[in-house]
Amino acid sequence: MISKKIPHLFYGGDYNPEQWPSEVWGEDIRLMQEAKVNFVSVGIFSWARLQPKEGVFDFAWLDELLDLLHQGGIGVNLATATASPPAWLVRKDPKVLPEDPNGQTYYPGSRQHYCPNSTSYQESSRALVRALAERYGQHPALVSWHVNNEYGCHFPACYCDVCAENFRDWLARRYGRIETLNETWGTAFWSQAYGEWEEIFPPRKMPTHPNPTQLLDYQRFMNESFLRLYKGEVEILRDVTPEMPVNTNFMAGHKPLDYFEWGALQDFTSHDAYPDPKPGEEGEIEGALANDLTRSFNKSVPMVLMEQVSSQVNWRGVNTLKAPGQMRLWSLQAVAHGAEGVLFFQWRASRAGAEKFHGAMVPHVEPAKSRVFQEIKGLGEDLSRLDDVLDSRIRTECGIVLSYENWWALEAGSKPRTFSYFSLLKENYTSLWRENLPVDFVVPGEDLAKYRLLVVPSLYLFRDEWAEWLRDWVHAGGVLVVTFFSGVVNEKEHIHLGGYGRPIRDLLGLWVEEWQPLHDDERVAFRFEESARREEAVYFTEKIHLEGARSIARYTEGPFEESPVLTVNDFGQGKVFYQGARFSADLQREWLGKLADEIGVQAPLKVPEGVELTVRTKGDREFLFCLNHQKETVAFSLGPLRGRDLLTGQEVAESLSLPPFGAAVIEKQGNEVKKEG
Ligand code: GLA
Ligand code: ZN
Repeated sequence: MISKKIPHLFYGGDYNPEQWPSEVWGEDIRLMQEAKVNFVSVGIFSWARLQPKEGVFDFAWLDELLDLLHQGGIGVNLATATASPPAWLVRKDPKVLPEDPNGQTYYPGSRQHYCPNSTSYQESSRALVRALAERYGQHPALVSWHVNNEYGCHFPACYCDVCAENFRDWLARRYGRIETLNETWGTAFWSQAYGEWEEIFPPRKMPTHPNPTQLLDYQRFMNESFLRLYKGEVEILRDVTPEMPVNTNFMAGHKPLDYFEWGALQDFTSHDAYPDPKPGEEGEIEGALANDLTRSFNKSVPMVLMEQVSSQVNWRGVNTLKAPGQMRLWSLQAVAHGAEGVLFFQWRASRAGAEKFHGAMVPHVEPAKSRVFQEIKGLGEDLSRLDDVLDSRIRTECGIVLSYENWWALEAGSKPRTFSYFSLLKENYTSLWRENLPVDFVVPGEDLAKYRLLVVPSLYLFRDEWAEWLRDWVHAGGVLVVTFFSGVVNEKEHIHLGGYGRPIRDLLGLWVEEWQPLHDDERVAFRFEESARREEAVYFTEKIHLEGARSIARYTEGPFEESPVLTVNDFGQGKVFYQGARFSADLQREWLGKLADEIGVQAPLKVPEGVELTVRTKGDREFLFCLNHQKETVAFSLGPLRGRDLLTGQEVAESLSLPPFGAAVIEKQGNEVKKEG
């Protein structure tokens, strides 16, 4: 439980009352109660309202509002309000404004227009945080702190002169001697050698390919710059309110910040998820992935869906509505993946500003006549029936390795082809999701004891010590799948010489000599050794030399004809599979699913395609979530499983029928059901 003040799943959203006259607030609270809202995030963009001038704070409105919320029985996730600096601060010190790699300044008029290394921004934001913490730290409505908002969302890296100076200091601390930097950055190439720290720039606009290590170090430096901002705020909050939970909201697929590092500093993790509900986009996969990713960033604290939309966003070219029932289904999906709260951006739709066409819990039309508000009320009712799942957890036996350093390096360009790391992660995730196998994302070095199957997609940047980490786990019986273009460079982005994959050559039982990347319309045929079944490789192929591993499939054409494409190596008690090419999505699913099945990692039930299952457990209680993402009714057998659907209160046995976008949350009964599968 995140806070004893709310012994329920959190339900609510971002609440921006400063956009409305105070007469509306009373209605807000009445409607919140009607919808069973118990938690709202207040003040995320209120800096200018809270501090109209330097040194002048106006807290009267927030005093009144927090009292009203408290009287209404609604808990507050109080924002530190630092995500959009006020105009007076920029006027006082224009160096607050960030610059892109082309030297273009980004001006006020939207939000997030600050350089993370600006001392004016740092000092002023911290003063605001202290003032808020001191004023509201003991307020009975306060449940948690919401620090800033979506760090680095619009402006993930600044390249201004202040950042340049900070970068030089960071490099000097990291490398000590300029010679070490020269060696690490490989500056013997293209006459890039530096004699003094002052000669170094951020990777601004350059004539052609930038130095890859310079780029990588800049991404590390920017991640740390934003993290320093976060830590600066948190230090104040912990100082004034040591017991109060602290959190900042993530965006699951956001590349610039190493969320494993950030996750470790959260009392609960949270994220904002806006999958495209356009039919055919399979937004439910993106949603599942976003929840699992966020839960994975810190596996020992609760997770919350901090933002989603009730109906449609305003920032795509065409903003498809969630179909009736889909908002409820995707909300329950978040809970199915471990969320302890379901929240929205935002409570009341804005009547002015750039987000006035963004959906909200309370739309522009009269709530009583609004489909959306009726669904919001229904969801409040549903969530109120799920108190029992609070504090239950997802048990996972499959892991997918994710390294941010690798993400930054792999996508930096000047490679055998362009790579999209996220699409490779997602493809492997999707394969397991379609088989209803729960997945964690795992950072290199993390404890692997609970996993039985670990997939390592294209881990191009590979630190030597990661080999030891994998070796121990495989040796003890783990089943590892490594895919193409792994183990190619070290953390300096220097090639591991002597055959690609060198750090894990013994583990893979092979080495890679060369590769042939494929264009979108190119395919290379291969054949499974045993079944003689024919398939085609896409995207990337490699020439593999076996050194102990056995071939499972071989190319039947192309430059690598007769050499293996898929291999297996016995290692201690475990096995290591190497996939030297990208497969079609269908084949990837089929072979990973089969592999999981063979080692006894199985879904809780066999269900029709498009039905998602997850299990949350608490002690010996088990809650089976059944979600129908199809637009048709589906029915399936429950086998020996019996239980009670917490959403309807009805007993279920033998079979279950779910309407389009329907869901059931079955608390299992009886011991026999645990043996299922
Ligand atoms: C993000 C932000 C919100 C809002 C929504 C709109 O999640 O955190 O303030 O802008 O996007 O989708
Ligand atoms: Zn800057």
